[in-house]
Amino acid sequence: MATRDFTGYGGIPLAAMVVGSQHEPAVLLLPDEGRDPADYEAMAEALADAGRHVIIPARRSNGSDEQHVGDLGAILAQLSTRPVIVGLGAGAETAARALCEGEPDLCTGLVLVGGDSDATLPPHLPAMIVRPEGSDLYAALTAPGAEWVEQQTDAPSELLDALLIEFLERRVPRTPTEYIGGSDPRTLRDALGTFATGVTIVTARAPDGTNVGLTANSFTSVSLDPPLLLVCPHRQAHSMAVFSEVDHFAVNVLHIGQQSVSDLFARKSDDRFERVDWEVWDHGPPILTNSLASFECRKFAEYDGGDHVILVGEVKRVRFAPQRDPLLYFRGKYRRLHFA
Ligand SMILES: Cc1cc2nc3c(=O)[nH]c(=O)nc-3n(C[C@H](O)[C@H](O)[C@H](O)COP(=O)(O)O)c2cc1C
Repeated sequence: MATRDFTGYGGIPLAAMVVGSQHEPAVLLLPDEGRDPADYEAMAEALADAGRHVIIPARRSNGSDEQHVGDLGAILAQLSTRPVIVGLGAGAETAARALCEGEPDLCTGLVLVGGDSDATLPPHLPAMIVRPEGSDLYAALTAPGAEWVEQQTDAPSELLDALLIEFLERRVPRTPTEYIGGSDPRTLRDALGTFATGVTIVTARAPDGTNVGLTANSFTSVSLDPPLLLVCPHRQAHSMAVFSEVDHFAVNVLHIGQQSVSDLFARKSDDRFERVDWEVWDHGPPILTNSLASFECRKFAEYDGGDHVILVGEVKRVRFAPQRDPLLYFRGKYRRLHFA
């Protein structure tokens, strides 16, 4: 974990925890009274994953309001960019007071989570006020441009992380939204890659007993009655001949811990099934034992899908692990869920 030293009000040293690349836009997270920067590590990681440079200065203990506001002013003056300020509890009160009293242009956005204040915020400032459901905290705050969200505020949570990321993306985007257009294959591929998917391994057993399988994200549910799903293997995939030949195949949805399995079934390899645990159910295709979900299917139809084949399966048996997180794929990279 990286750290950075700031000089606070009156020259006192203030250590800060720093997460994410310094080339990304800054988010200054102000801790609640009695909390350490490290208490917000998960939140900082989530914001850094979403492309932010997160700075969490320690809050001086037993400081006066004037000292906390002075510390914030001093830190803002030492930053080379204008951050979004996210204040939590007492940190929110400090931020509101500082912006009201004279630092309105030193930040590009403000999020107040918990705390209370009767400050007047700059009208042009993108702001979000998060307070518990039904509370009248911040009732005396003047913030014409603010959004109000009702949500538990007493502890960092994945829901709060998601709220923050969504606010930042919408109100303080990293760069102005850029659109790319065209009809060439590269543009089409990149545009299709904006559709986030899970990752599956599609498997079958050839009549001679050889197991085949490949990584595929071209998977979707089709129908509940009858229970149908589809997946699209490339015509040139080595396994394709077997998929065409057999009556049954299986689709295994991968969890977040199975990225190496996805890589194994996407790279050239002769021993894919020697390197994973698998089992057989009723109809022969190998079922990857620890998957997030497995569907054993009877082949229902096979359609022409250009350079791919649309393989439709009728689900015969299913098993899934409801508590696990999925492995995701988005714009050519593996991803993980930010929140449940
Ligand atoms: C995340 C991910 C998704 C993929 N999705 C598909 C897909 O839907 N269809 C396909 O034919 N290949 C897909 N591929 C590529 C195949 O997994 C890869 O070409 C594999 O080597 C083909 O297996 P083969 O050895 O049987 O030819 C994907 C690869 C990755 C990493």
